[in-house]
Amino acid sequence: MTWTRVTLMERIELAPGLARFRLSGHRPEFKPGQFVQLALDLNGERVGRPYSLCSAPGADLETLIVRVQGGALTPALFELAQGAPLWVHTAASGNFTLDRVRDAPSLWLLSTGTGIAPFMSMVREGSFNRFAKVVFVHGVRKLAHLAYRREIEERGFVHLPVVSREQCEGLLHGRIPDHLDNGALEKRAGAALDGNAQVLLCGNPAMITQVYGQLIDRGLTKNRPRRPGNITFEAYW
Ligand SMILES: Cc1cc2nc3c(=O)[nH]c(=O)nc-3n(C[C@H](O)[C@H](O)[C@H](O)COP(=O)(O)OP(=O)(O)OC[C@H]3O[C@@H](n4cnc5c(N)ncnc54)[C@H](O)[C@@H]3O)c2cc1C
Ligand SMILES: NC(=O)c1ccc[n+]([C@@H]2O[C@H](COP(=O)([O-])OP(=O)(O)OC[C@H]3O[C@@H](n4cnc5c(N)ncnc54)[C@H](OP(=O)(O)O)[C@@H]3O)[C@@H](O)[C@H]2O)c1
Repeated sequence: MTWTRVTLMERIELAPGLARFRLSGHRPEFKPGQFVQLALDLNGERVGRPYSLCSAPGADLETLIVRVQGGALTPALFELAQGAPLWVHTAASGNFTLDRVRDAPSLWLLSTGTGIAPFMSMVREGSFNRFAKVVFVHGVRKLAHLAYRREIEERGFVHLPVVSREQCEGLLHGRIPDHLDNGALEKRAGAALDGNAQVLLCGNPAMITQVYGQLIDRGLTKNRPRRPGNITFEAYW
C-alpha cells in the first residue's frame, strides 16, 4: 500500500470535536461505503487510521471525524491548519457497500455518531434509487451532532434522529435499540423493519451488537457472500 500527499482544504466544525474534513490532491477510485486510511507523521512515526468517505466517487474527498480524547491521531487532525498536508492511502478498501444488498421495499440505514459517513457517499452517488423507501436512523449524543440532516431531508429520505443527551422537541430521545423495541422508529417511518427489509448498521460496536441481536430475534439474517440475508454492518472500533 502506498501513501500519497493530500491537502486539508477545509475543516467544517459542526460541534466542538466533530468536523467535516475536505481534502484535495488525490481522488482514489472507490465504491460508496468504502474507507481510506488517513495519516500524519507524529513524533517520527506515521500514524494512520481508517475513515469512511462521505463524498461521491470522483469528487474531492470528504470525511466526518470525531476527536477521540487521548487518541493517537484525531487530536492532531483537529490541530491542522487549512492547507496543511496529510497522507492518504492511494487505494480505498472495505466491503461495506451496496454490492451485495438485495432490492427491498425498504432500506434502513442505522448509525451512531460518525457512522453516518458511508451512507452520505451513497446518498451523493444516487445509490438508493432502487429502494422505494430509505430510512436514516441517526443516534447521537446532542442535536449539533446530527451531521447532514438537511441534505438527507432535502433529498426526500426519511430522517429519524435519536438524541441521547439532550431533550429535543419532536425528536426521539434515548438510544436506537429502545426505539426499535417500542416500535417508535417503524411508526415514524411508516414502514416495517421485518424480513422484507434490508438493514445497514454502522458506528458504535455496542450499538451494532445490540441491534443485530434485536434484528435476529425478528427473523432477519446476516448478509453473507454466499448466503444473502438482510443485515450488513461495519463497526468503527
Ligand atoms: C472501517 C472504519 C471506518 C471508520 N470511519 C471513521 C469515520 O468516518 N469517522 C471517524 O471519526 N472514525 C472512523 N473510524 C474510527 C477511526 O479509524 C479511529 O479509530 C478513530 O478516529 C480514533 O483514532 P485515534 O487514533 O484518535 O484513537 P486511537 O488511539 O486509535 O484509539 C483510542 C481509543 O478510542 C477507541 N475509539 C476509536 N474510535 C472511537 C470513537 N469514534 N468513539 C469512541 N471511541 C473510539 C479505540 O477503540 C481506542 O480504545 C473508522 C474505523 C473503521 C474500522
Ligand atoms: N460527538 C462529539 O461531538 C464529540 C466531541 C468531542 C469528543 N467526542 C468523543 O468522541 C467519542 C465518540 O463520541 P460520539 O458521540 O461520536 O459516539 P458514541 O459515544 O458512540 O455516541 C453516539 C450515540 O450512540 C449511542 N450509543 C452508545 N452505546 C450505544 C448502544 N449500545 N446502543 C445504542 N446506542 C448507543 C450514544 O448514546 P449515549 O449518549 O447514551 O451513550 C449516542 O447517542 C467519545 O469518546 C466522545 O467523548 C465526541
